Amino acid sequence: MTLSGAAKLAGVIGWPIAHSRSPAIHGYWLEQYQIDGAYVPLGIDPNNIDQMFDALPKLGFRGWNVTLPHKESAFRLVHERTQTATEIGAVNTVTVQPDGSLHGDNSDAFGFMAHLDQSVPGWPKDRPAAVLGAGGAARAICSGLLQAGVPSVRLLNRTRARAETLAAAFGDRIEVVDWTECGQALAGAGLLTNTTSLGMTKQPPLEIELDELPGDGVVYDIVYVPLETDLLAQARARDLACVDGLGMLLHQARPGFHRWFGVDAQVTPDLHQSVIKDLLP
Ligand code: ATR
Repeated sequence: MTLSGAAKLAGVIGWPIAHSRSPAIHGYWLEQYQIDGAYVPLGIDPNNIDQMFDALPKLGFRGWNVTLPHKESAFRLVHERTQTATEIGAVNTVTVQPDGSLHGDNSDAFGFMAHLDQSVPGWPKDRPAAVLGAGGAARAICSGLLQAGVPSVRLLNRTRARAETLAAAFGDRIEVVDWTECGQALAGAGLLTNTTSLGMTKQPPLEIELDELPGDGVVYDIVYVPLETDLLAQARARDLACVDGLGMLLHQARPGFHRWFGVDAQVTPDLHQSVIKDLLP
């Protein structure tokens, strides 16, 4: 769509930025909803991040997404944060408020939960959830799951100390389980989520036994290259419900799009297809 002089502006800040899928997702919605707006990739060196947070509102930006390595800087640079962003300690969605101040949110937890709810509406949330990994993604996912009301999260990470640090930030609803005790963590669980890089193209495989996971348990892999990871193939072979990682990426874009462009954009099979085309080697 041709832009007018009043076009609404937003974008994504990262370093590097060329790999980001966000311009494709927002660009798809801008076209679909015929919005007079633009969403641009902004490669910003970490040395310039503070100046950019000053400059973008002056250039007329309504807000922007933040990706690696700037999510913690963004947390520091906004004037106000949502409770979720505070819990996660990172901001990925910045919105310029009418008084010019910056509002920071983290939409990763929302993206994770929205995709789970859409993919498996009756997922068993009344039982413990097992989470593999203790990086930024795991932190967002723990926040989302606990807010959704799961009774507890069993957290497993190769480096146990990192899992313990994460758990300490959430109180006693996170139980750290040793990486080697995965079977025990799956017994009676309603959901298993992989947040590690294992199983991703060019990374080592995730070696795991799913036998202990109950038959109505759900397996969610946030890795999306490849879309069908070995973990999901293994779960499918056992007839377990499976959730892939791409939908989380698509759904996490929705809160920003709504704030900046005023439309509650939907994640449709057609959007999936259009982004998947981009992922193919
Ligand atoms: P993000 O912020 O994207 O979640 P991250 O902070 O780089 O990513 O975390 C990657 C996760 O994958 C970590 O939990 C990491 O485990 P460690 O904390 O022990 O490093 C996990 N991971 C990466 N490679 C791994 C491997 N070969 N075996 C087990 N876990 C691995």
